[in-house]
Amino acid sequence: MSIFAEGRAAVITGAAGGIGLAVARACLDRGMRVTLADHDGDRLRAAADSLAGQVAQAVCDVSDPAQVEALRDAAVAAHGPVDLLVNNAGVAHPNKPWSGREGWEATLAVNLWGVINGLHAFVPMMLEEGRDGAVVNLGSKQGITNPPGNTAYNVSKAGVRVVTEQLAWEFRQIEGCRLSAHLLVPGFTFTGMTAGGAAEKPAGAWTGEQVAERMVEGVEAGAFYIICQDNEVDWDTDRKRIAWGAGDITEGRPALSRWHPDFGEAFRRYPGP
Ligand SMILES: NC(=O)c1ccc[n+]([C@@H]2O[C@H](COP(=O)([O-])OP(=O)(O)OC[C@H]3O[C@@H](n4cnc5c(N)ncnc54)[C@H](O)[C@@H]3O)[C@@H](O)[C@H]2O)c1
Repeated sequence: MSIFAEGRAAVITGAAGGIGLAVARACLDRGMRVTLADHDGDRLRAAADSLAGQVAQAVCDVSDPAQVEALRDAAVAAHGPVDLLVNNAGVAHPNKPWSGREGWEATLAVNLWGVINGLHAFVPMMLEEGRDGAVVNLGSKQGITNPPGNTAYNVSKAGVRVVTEQLAWEFRQIEGCRLSAHLLVPGFTFTGMTAGGAAEKPAGAWTGEQVAERMVEGVEAGAFYIICQDNEVDWDTDRKRIAWGAGDITEGRPALSRWHPDFGEAFRRYPGP
């Protein structure tokens, strides 16, 4: 039975806008009951008002474990057992490896600890319920290929990837476990995080709705890595970049050789895996 079905319950963090709100719409379109969570109460209320269907809302800062536990209790009180948890809340603050401590702490607190707090609050209960269900964590290509800049963001998303891979393995070890784990990896998506004040979607970006639909397809197909493209980067390019990054280690190249002047030509000629 699909998780995306009439009467089943979803909890989505960071759902006041962007990808989280689009995921909420995709769930409601399929008759699910949805709890929206965000730390921004005003935008959260506006988002909930814009939706039709069975919607509950909870103001929740995902970096605070007590607030995530309260979110769990509010979601269960509103809609019963949770079938889908989407740990989506995220932030991006500029920094370098040696500077921007505030940005480092804020980024890791939300992007990495927010996901861990979500798992700690919800997974034991979901295991106990014994129903089929799914946990989707928001990764990023930046957590896989590690492009220069935004170090804390890349670290946080690499951490989410590791946590989610371990979660999938843990679920496989539990006899009869009916939960699945998924890493949703958007490409360039037009949201509050990437808009930079622009009102119109750049041609190269996907919409949040496209990411949400890809998420539903991926979870239903049982995919662990749900890698989204955008209108600039196709799957062949993603595969080439991911394999080249791993090749820095196996081929003994310098770190981040894709952006090294001595290796630019070799990367361009590399046909991919
Ligand atoms: N937009 C992209 O191109 C892109 C690409 C890869 C990954 N992502 C990831 O997708 C996820 C959603 O991002 P988006 O692009 O929709 O951005 P967004 O800024 O539109 O949405 C993020 C939401 O998280 C909320 N939030 C921030 N801190 C929070 C906290 N402490 N507690 C609860 N909620 C909090 C914000 O209020 C906002 O509503 C993020 O994890 C982001 O890293 C986005």
